Amino acid sequence: MYILGIESSCDETAASVVQDGHVVLSNVISSQIKLHAAYGGVIPELAAREHLKNVYPVVEAALREAGKSVEELDGMAVTSHPGLIPALLVGNAYAKGLSAAAGLPIVGVNHFQGHLYAAFLEHPEALDAPENYPILGVVVSGGHTALVLLQEDGRAQIVGTTLDDAAGEALDKAAKILNLGYPGGPIIDRLAKLGDERKYDFPRGLVGAAGKPVPAEHKYDVSFSGVKTALLYQVRERTLSDSELNDIVASYQAAVMGVLVTKAIMAAHDCGAKLVCLCGGVACNSYLRAQMQAACERRGMKLLLTPPKYCTDNAAMIAGLGYHYHKFNFHSGVDMPVSARLPQDLGIFPLARKAKI
Ligand code: KG4
Ligand code: ZN
Repeated sequence: MYILGIESSCDETAASVVQDGHVVLSNVISSQIKLHAAYGGVIPELAAREHLKNVYPVVEAALREAGKSVEELDGMAVTSHPGLIPALLVGNAYAKGLSAAAGLPIVGVNHFQGHLYAAFLEHPEALDAPENYPILGVVVSGGHTALVLLQEDGRAQIVGTTLDDAAGEALDKAAKILNLGYPGGPIIDRLAKLGDERKYDFPRGLVGAAGKPVPAEHKYDVSFSGVKTALLYQVRERTLSDSELNDIVASYQAAVMGVLVTKAIMAAHDCGAKLVCLCGGVACNSYLRAQMQAACERRGMKLLLTPPKYCTDNAAMIAGLGYHYHKFNFHSGVDMPVSARLPQDLGIFPLARKAKI
């Protein structure tokens, strides 16, 4: 089954053709990073205008690269939530138009689930193995930071989340404070390699550090507002040398990632997860990947690291996940809405081994 996926929830216009949920025939991404860099963050209306310009050529390129015509497709999938409404509207209106014109069934998919699915795009066997369940998904991006426990029948539960900023936001805002550019994550990743993470002792929120007990209801939650404020105070009215800057960046990164690893491992252990998978844009981070790998090895846990090209926003994860709806003949109606928020009730994740929708 050939599925065309379209993604426009934030600042990437992306399209991809994926066969049977895991053979990626094309993965075209047009990034707007340069446009938004001047503002230090994504401006929704600008994003929408760019999507409008790019969506047609990006879809055409994805079909061309895959060597498929619209007539050869079996269905379409489009990110319908969560995301920036003006941005989502463009991708969804285009997708609905193409679906109607070509007579292709379409399904709206959840971007958060898409990030989780990205870990399995090249490893469908990991989803098929009963011994891997429950699976703990560590979804860390610019918009989300959540630990999600996935059962074999597709039930999914968020066991931990951020109380304030997403991990990527904590990095992007830090880079803004330090005048490093946008997006901050990749820049911090690079500079941190030149610094010493032990030079500065940045606070680690909600891990019981500094003798502050963690409330039971926040056992697996994270918070990055404290570390961000500490950074602001640390650099206020200071002129930093290159080596001071690198040390600060390395120490800040270690604090953010340290909390993520601690919470993920604790949740995986307590929930009896057999497989941990790391996904979302922040999962590109080399320090986080290495720390998560080391922590999982120490605990004898299996870890699946999403390939970096599928960590940041892309449409292969949307087309791949879309296949799991189409195979059940589950389609969205012409009146399918878009929505900004991740729903409280995550519903059934169709990617799980025994999921039925
Ligand atoms: O998944 P994504 O492309 O978009 C959202 O759904 O949010 O994630 C973007 C986030 C940004 O915050 C960016 O700074 C972060 O991923 N990111 C990284 C790295 N590459 C991208 N963070 C840390 N290290 C990286 N190498
Ligand atoms: Zn994303």
